[in-house]
Amino acid sequence: MAICISIVVGKGGAGKTTTCVNLATAMAMDGKKVLVVDTDTQANTTMFLTGYKLNEKAFGGKGLFDMIRAWGLIDVENYIHHSQIDGIDVIVSNDATPLIPQQLETLEKVSGIKAQEFMLHALSQVAENYDFIVIDTPPAQNDVLVRNALLASDHIIVPVKLDEQCIDALKLSDSLRLQLEKEYDTEINLLGVLPTMVERTALTTYYLDLAFRNTNEEENPARQELAVPYKDKIFENYIHKGNVINESSLYKKPALMINKKAKPCIDYLNLWQEIKERIDR
Ligand SMILES: Nc1ncnc2c1ncn2[C@@H]1O[C@H](COP(=O)(O)OP(=O)(O)O)[C@@H](O)[C@H]1O
Ligand SMILES: [Mg+2]
Repeated sequence: MAICISIVVGKGGAGKTTTCVNLATAMAMDGKKVLVVDTDTQANTTMFLTGYKLNEKAFGGKGLFDMIRAWGLIDVENYIHHSQIDGIDVIVSNDATPLIPQQLETLEKVSGIKAQEFMLHALSQVAENYDFIVIDTPPAQNDVLVRNALLASDHIIVPVKLDEQCIDALKLSDSLRLQLEKEYDTEINLLGVLPTMVERTALTTYYLDLAFRNTNEEENPARQELAVPYKDKIFENYIHKGNVINESSLYKKPALMINKKAKPCIDYLNLWQEIKERIDR
């Protein structure tokens, strides 16, 4: 049965998509069978995994939206595509992805499946075929697709670029996680907070200390609330900033498929080892 991990933070440019595709690639390079689900209208995860940009390929009219529209008539398996990487399959985002929230409401009316529970039901149909399912999410705080991803997940990873906005977004995304855990009486584990695009500068160190490490209330009262819950959650393996990530967009492939020895790639391989320890696999 697959372990499902969502990459979530309600802000664009945090490193979600980069983390999703390179983590999935690291898993596949380690012999795991992985299903990636792209829920973002930008379809960048789909591009990195298939080599096709949005609108370059219709995928036979079989994207995430189409799967929702055909729910109950056509099995989920029919909407799964092979990626360009051995061991990774993908449910793609296409130009109909913006219509998904409306389609989920329609589905709720006709089938009784609650809009935010769709992914949970759909992925349970195919979970036994994979070791891991990794979901990339849109840069929204409380979107129906984000809630779908969270409810379907055993774990979430929150990537943060070390700036004020991302750290605030972390807090908001985590409160949504806690709210859904409570509402459904289930566990959605915060597996870790992942600093991305890290440059070794004074500012990086400042934010790391400010946000995560300084738990001394008198010295830093404003951050006490944030520092206490997340201090132990931050991954040891940060992702450094590196050109290979830009090249990766150019070649429409995960960075790990371009140069395994580039710094951010080594970081993603190490992150995968750290994740395996955290989830005991
Ligand atoms: N480690 C990194 N080094 C350099 N650039 C990066 C790195 N991670 C992400 N980027 C760049 O930052 C931008 C946002 O990353 P992305 O993964 O698309 O974030 P999100 O999915 O959260 O919007 C992209 O242009 C991406 O190429
Ligand atoms: Mg993205």
